[in-house]
Amino acid sequence: VLRVAVVGATGAVGREVCRLLDERVPEVGALVPFASAASAGRDLAAEWGLRTPTAPVGAVDGDAIAGADVAVLCAGIGVSLALGDDLAASGCLVVDNSSAFRMRDDVPLVVPEVNPEAIATRPASGIVANPNCSTIQLVRVLDPLRRAAGLEAVDVATYQAASGGGLRGLAEVQAATADLLAGGDGGGGRGGRFGQPLALNLVPQIGALDGDGMAHEEHKLRREPRKILALPELRVTATAVRVPVLHCHSEAVTLRLGRPVPREGLEAVLAATSGLCVHRSSDRPPFPMPRFVARCDDGRARVHVGRVRVDAEDPRTVQCWIVADNLWVGAALNATGILAHAVGRGWLG
Ligand SMILES: NC(=O)c1ccc[n+]([C@@H]2O[C@H](COP(=O)([O-])OP(=O)(O)OC[C@H]3O[C@@H](n4cnc5c(N)ncnc54)[C@H](OP(=O)(O)O)[C@@H]3O)[C@@H](O)[C@H]2O)c1
Repeated sequence: VLRVAVVGATGAVGREVCRLLDERVPEVGALVPFASAASAGRDLAAEWGLRTPTAPVGAVDGDAIAGADVAVLCAGIGVSLALGDDLAASGCLVVDNSSAFRMRDDVPLVVPEVNPEAIATRPASGIVANPNCSTIQLVRVLDPLRRAAGLEAVDVATYQAASGGGLRGLAEVQAATADLLAGGDGGGGRGGRFGQPLALNLVPQIGALDGDGMAHEEHKLRREPRKILALPELRVTATAVRVPVLHCHSEAVTLRLGRPVPREGLEAVLAATSGLCVHRSSDRPPFPMPRFVARCDDGRARVHVGRVRVDAEDPRTVQCWIVADNLWVGAALNATGILAHAVGRGWLG
């Protein structure tokens, strides 16, 4: 029986990881959830209707987690740094959702639909990293296009939902929006989870700014696609913006291909790619929108792309609009996909 520890199980990502493992990975015989001491004792099977035998939530404890075959870490970078290497050394396969290990040379950074070859064998480090949520939906679209026509440069502006800031971020924007609409100050000048008030607002900074003015999220969007696509010279520029949408990140992308392909050809390449949903120019509306993508499981499980267009003055420059559920495509589904890959390869005994 495969025992899977979910660390940070009570959070926005952890909850979806538990649900997806329960529903979609039959080899999982036991779920062992961990969170902060404040959540200890919660019965998640009863709360969420899980069928897999599930232990009561335990306070994070490295020795207890090490008893699992796999640990899916979704409790933030601090917990991942504190536990990741020791868990891996004890023989537990670590699938990490934070940015703690993503750029380490001995840790594969994996999107199962894009670079499964990076985990053709179990990594010696015992750790597999899940990319940033905005990176995952971006490379899911870039990969088929670069295979068809080559890829020289990418410029992306993100429109990232509040649930990217976890359950606290989500609750904060819901309460502040209600307060604003009721005539209050909507959180006023207080920054909260997003640094600045997000209700009915846009915040063009996600993560700390470096000395050159680039935000941490923008660094991730630059570095991670290069590693996943194995294109170390790929030019990526990014502007990351937090928007008062509850779920699903959106991205406006401009890319430069190696050779020109007409719009219909690009749409056909994307439509033939597993897990993508193409909104063609003939569809009404010809683009996906975050509120509707999150409405059903089928929508949550796919990367949606529309507004595909070719620059009239430079036929190698292509623009599109990408929407995906940050908690599913951008985190939980990717992590469970890595786990399913490990099961399929027989890494877990
Ligand atoms: N949200 C997204 O869209 C997204 C996408 C990709 C990756 N990620 C990454 O996934 C991780 C989790 O994000 P989230 O959005 O799910 O956050 P979240 O909703 O705030 O949940 C955090 C979880 O971690 C637990 N936790 C926090 N600090 C802890 C500590 N010191 N010791 C033990 N448990 C602790 C919390 O337990 P309590 O409930 O007991 O407080 C909760 O279960 C982060 O690394 C994040 O960067 C998030």
